[in-house]
Amino acid sequence: MSKKIFSGVQPTGNLHLGNYLGAIKNFVDLNNDDQNKCIFCVVDLHAITIKQDKHELRNNIRETTATFIASGIDPTKSIIFDQSKVHAHAEGAWFLSCMAPMGWLNRMTQFKEKAGKDKEKASIGLYIYPILMASDILLYDTTHVPVGEDQKQHLELTRDLAQKFNKDFNCEDFLRVPEPLIKKHFSRIMSLKDGKKKMSKSDPSDFSRINLTDTKDEIVNKIKKAKTDSLPIPYEDQKLKDRPEAENLLGIYSSISDQNLDKSLEEFGGKNFSDLKNQLAEVLLSKISPISDEIKKLINDYEYLDKVLADGVNKAEEIAGKKIVEMKKIIGF
Ligand code: AMP
Ligand code: TRP
Repeated sequence: MSKKIFSGVQPTGNLHLGNYLGAIKNFVDLNNDDQNKCIFCVVDLHAITIKQDKHELRNNIRETTATFIASGIDPTKSIIFDQSKVHAHAEGAWFLSCMAPMGWLNRMTQFKEKAGKDKEKASIGLYIYPILMASDILLYDTTHVPVGEDQKQHLELTRDLAQKFNKDFNCEDFLRVPEPLIKKHFSRIMSLKDGKKKMSKSDPSDFSRINLTDTKDEIVNKIKKAKTDSLPIPYEDQKLKDRPEAENLLGIYSSISDQNLDKSLEEFGGKNFSDLKNQLAEVLLSKISPISDEIKKLINDYEYLDKVLADGVNKAEEIAGKKIVEMKKIIGF
């Protein structure tokens, strides 16, 4: 079946192995299937829900674009664009905000995590962030949204908002209700320093993550220093319970090698972590270093990257512009 794919990544720097294995690697597979129509968005409006330096933001928009292309997304096949250039996204978010119950937003766990203890000081933008995400998705009649596990709740909200809009304005099927595409396994990559914490761009320790721009030495070093426990690697997955670091390293190894966990357990069961770490570092070097080299090559070619984005904006504008006009008519403008 032909799918309409939409997904977004925030240009907030430090794109890491979690972003790659949880999201970008799937974008590449979807891009490679000629039946699909894919749109990948650099969600810069989402990035400013947290304060950004304007020069860094501009660099990060280019770096995220370069990462998409370096990972294997072909900009002549898929649309790659920056969100702030297509006005319909912010407009659609406003329309959806006006019919979104606060109760639904109050349930969003990511807001609670990001806002921290002092919720009163968090921006309204951070609070309504999932509504902008819904607008992104719904403007393109998206059928499938590839994301990591942490975005599951936002996608449920998107589905609920689409259904509510269609019902409130009596326009059955106008906003297409999208399906999440979340990998069954390894959709949540954890920190290398703490197997109970998500690998994240904002972790103050660079040793908690493998960045997609890390050098070979950095990759090897970070894997060497990754936290483990004192037991040998088990033979069965049930024995990984309460061993989050072991589970994470085996998960990363399985995901990047495209094999299931059982196969990895067969390979490493009874062995020491040093065996797993050596092998993991080797696979990471073979899969991540070429991407990292390509990012470094592309990142200085502003002309090319800006052209990719500008072409993408034109194509996205054409689709989203039409949808927002229809949406306005339905509302009564
Ligand atoms: P963000 O960097 O927050 O814009 O995330 C971009 C994509 O990467 C989203 O689809 C996230 O779900 C995914 N992602 C971010 N961190 C992780 C992680 N630690 N494990 C798996 N997927 C992740
Ligand atoms: N909220 C997503 C994240 O932080 C990024 C995002 C914004 C997104 N708009 C989207 C993902 C639309 C999928 C579809 O990872």
